[in-house]
Amino acid sequence: MLTDIISLQSLGYGAILCLLAGASLTRWAASRPHLNIPPGPTEGLGPVPRIFKVFHDYSQRYGPVFSIKNGNRIVVVIAGYKVIIDSPLQIGRELTPAQAAVEIMQKRGADLADRPQSVSAQMISGNLRLLIIGAGERMKRFRRILHFQLQPSTAKQYQPLQLQNAKDYILDILFDKECYRYAASVIMSVTYGKTTPTQYSDPEVVAVEAAVQRLVDTLPIGKGWVDKFPFLRHFPLPEVKRLRQYHQAEMDLFNNQLDDVRQRIKNNEYVPPNVTTHLWENQTAYGISNDELAYLTGSMFGAGSDTTATAMSYMTMAAALFPDQRARAQAQLDAVVGRDRLPTFEDQTHLPLVTAFALESHRWRPVSPSGNHWSVMHDPEVFPDPEKFILDRWLDGNGQIRGDLKMFGFGFGRRVCPGQPVAERSLFINTALMCWAFDVTEDPSVPIDTMAFTDGAIAHPHPFKVNFEPRIKNLRELLQGECQPE
Ligand code: HEM
Repeated sequence: MLTDIISLQSLGYGAILCLLAGASLTRWAASRPHLNIPPGPTEGLGPVPRIFKVFHDYSQRYGPVFSIKNGNRIVVVIAGYKVIIDSPLQIGRELTPAQAAVEIMQKRGADLADRPQSVSAQMISGNLRLLIIGAGERMKRFRRILHFQLQPSTAKQYQPLQLQNAKDYILDILFDKECYRYAASVIMSVTYGKTTPTQYSDPEVVAVEAAVQRLVDTLPIGKGWVDKFPFLRHFPLPEVKRLRQYHQAEMDLFNNQLDDVRQRIKNNEYVPPNVTTHLWENQTAYGISNDELAYLTGSMFGAGSDTTATAMSYMTMAAALFPDQRARAQAQLDAVVGRDRLPTFEDQTHLPLVTAFALESHRWRPVSPSGNHWSVMHDPEVFPDPEKFILDRWLDGNGQIRGDLKMFGFGFGRRVCPGQPVAERSLFINTALMCWAFDVTEDPSVPIDTMAFTDGAIAHPHPFKVNFEPRIKNLRELLQGECQPE
């Protein structure tokens, strides 16, 4: 299965993850010769920039399930919303390609749970980083633990720290800083119970980012000798030594972070609910080793920080570019919350337009478009005029959030993002506070290019400029709690 996607590696890590479904489908389809291979271009697909656009064009041309040639292999890509949602299948009858895709997505999730195995990446992480662990016992155990820690009922306990950090973020805006501090601080609080704000310039964050970068640089499978000849990992080659050093550096980094929590507990400092202490308390029950625990917690920053900050950037961009839609959310905020207190999580059920704003910005510009998130969330059959920003897409006839429309920006199936409940709360509270606090506007002298974003696993928008006009009197005092409502 690995070789199915080898020549596409330079597309980026996100693309690798997203192509997994296709790779699995290939294997599955090959074992069922009675299946028709879905239509697709006759020319093969090598490494190309902006693969999500190519996929999107193919999906318009060939339909929501299409195949591409990759060397002498065929990769099947699922690029439509409805093929994931609909479930018209009965085992044992002849299947159309689209039905086959649905069959696999819905009923054979295990086939899609695997990851391509890069020997060098696995050496760096000691096969302990969930994002790249293949399907199997450890993957299931790690996911079970994270699910328990991040599921909606547990995620609720992180709401106070999310609210506090969102308030700090609005203050940051007032003082001209950016959303990365929010994302970094929340993930450090959720993971390690840190109460002090985390900056991207903090040495531990710089070290974590460097570790993630080393991994991303190594991932292109087939780049290193150990990937071409895995037995070489047992020889004292410079490459092997370097990969082992990287692993040791990650191990030291993650253990230092755990030591810091231990020290704070020892000093009787207040440590709010967090994943690390929960794992320590239940380590035997979960059956995880010390190294596994260090990696489970250590890899959360890489998975949850940049992603959240990027989604927040697109939400801000949308607030500036779609003033009529922002004004609708603001009108609801004024009616429900007023201007004398801050919106909170308790208001969410009465603020469907704010939730819709967060959902629509994530749909409009998915954080990880490289795979099929772009095509799926821009499927014109489900989201007509997909480039238009329309809150009503997410609302039912009563103005409430539709229960039947899914957000696939967090992936699908057995590898769906376990941090989704925490991330969705972050997006809601930041959208609420941002729209409540400011009229966000585009600076006409510096127009925003909405397609200017990086081409990697995470599509970071290129720097863009917006103006924040406070719309609340005493905004700073309210945020700092100096001015209590009557
Ligand atoms: C807006 C924010 C976020 C977005 C858009 C996002 C998106 C994703 C996506 C697309 C995947 C890959 C899913 C797949 O392979 O199908 C993923 C995996 C993952 N995410 Fe998130 N994520 C976000 C926030 C978070 C947060 C806050 C956390 C932790 C608290 C987190 C933890 C993880 C982990 C551990 C994985 C690896 C799961 C696995 O490989 O089994 N994410 N995320």
